[in-house]
Amino acid sequence: MIKKIGVLTSGGDSPGMNAAIRAITRSATTQGVEVIGIYNGYKGLLEENFVPLSRSSVSDIMVKGGTMLGSARLPEFKDNEVVKQAAAILRKHDIEALVTIGGDGTYKGALALTSHGINCVGLPGTIDNDIASTDFTIGFDTALNTVIQAIDKLRDTSSSHHRCSVVEVMGNRCGDLAIYAGLSCGAEVIITPENGYDEVEVLNLIKYYEEVKNKKHAIVIISEKITDAEMLANKISKTSGFSGRATVLGHVQRGGSPTAFDRVLATRMGDKAVEVLLQGLGGQCIGIMDNQIVSIDIETALSMPKKSRKHLFKLHERLV
Ligand code: F6P
Repeated sequence: MIKKIGVLTSGGDSPGMNAAIRAITRSATTQGVEVIGIYNGYKGLLEENFVPLSRSSVSDIMVKGGTMLGSARLPEFKDNEVVKQAAAILRKHDIEALVTIGGDGTYKGALALTSHGINCVGLPGTIDNDIASTDFTIGFDTALNTVIQAIDKLRDTSSSHHRCSVVEVMGNRCGDLAIYAGLSCGAEVIITPENGYDEVEVLNLIKYYEEVKNKKHAIVIISEKITDAEMLANKISKTSGFSGRATVLGHVQRGGSPTAFDRVLATRMGDKAVEVLLQGLGGQCIGIMDNQIVSIDIETALSMPKKSRKHLFKLHERLV
């Protein structure tokens, strides 16, 4: 039976990571397994930046956003020699297995470490909801609620001033934050990598909502990295009666106390990760599918096609 496991958070942080660290620590220690926290993701692993975790050291962290372990991105972890070095460090510290919390880059690192003899289990921690092997990632719900609160406020002021608010949200080439926020806020236009971007079509739609549907304001939600939100807002000002204003929500979306949904999700997933490691399995990742917590091998997870949101775009079209 395993005696010592490690836990790290890697990539962009997300609200709920702390709840996962707490669940992993408490689930493991209850079963007689020691837990070592690794600071700053794979980077901290290579620097042997470790801290022992106990039931009491993880108390009170569940309500906090961010990650108590810190996070980093380490592109060098793609290099086989670097992974080999990391596995040797873990062996030196008698850390037999690892839970890695992050996005698909983190999963790739977990898979590589497993192939070097250290069983790893990945938890989906990212606000982007861009992991195909889970219906929801830890942090998505909190980020979505942050986005919605901001848009509700923008709606108040844009309706007072006959304005069109262009709101750029994060997503790392996944449109889930945009489409879910668009449905939750009744946005007029939602632009994501999946439904594509046609500037003329967007400008025509805004004119249509103003002139034909007599809307007093409009909200456009656009995923990051598609076009410049400021430029689009200026074009809206020139081609319609609305004055366009751009708001880039940025990193505010990554912070804040996690919602109940994210806390429960992280807690269930953290506990499952320990169960999987104690079964002697590695190269697995945890997901939620149809409200069941499942474990899938990482290779399969990484080859799954992106989730289609066509049905949500159709629903938006019917209701807008
Ligand atoms: O993956 C999370 C995320 O916030 C993405 O939505 C965004 O594209 C990226 O990270 C931003 O990264 P950074 O914090 O390194 O600027």
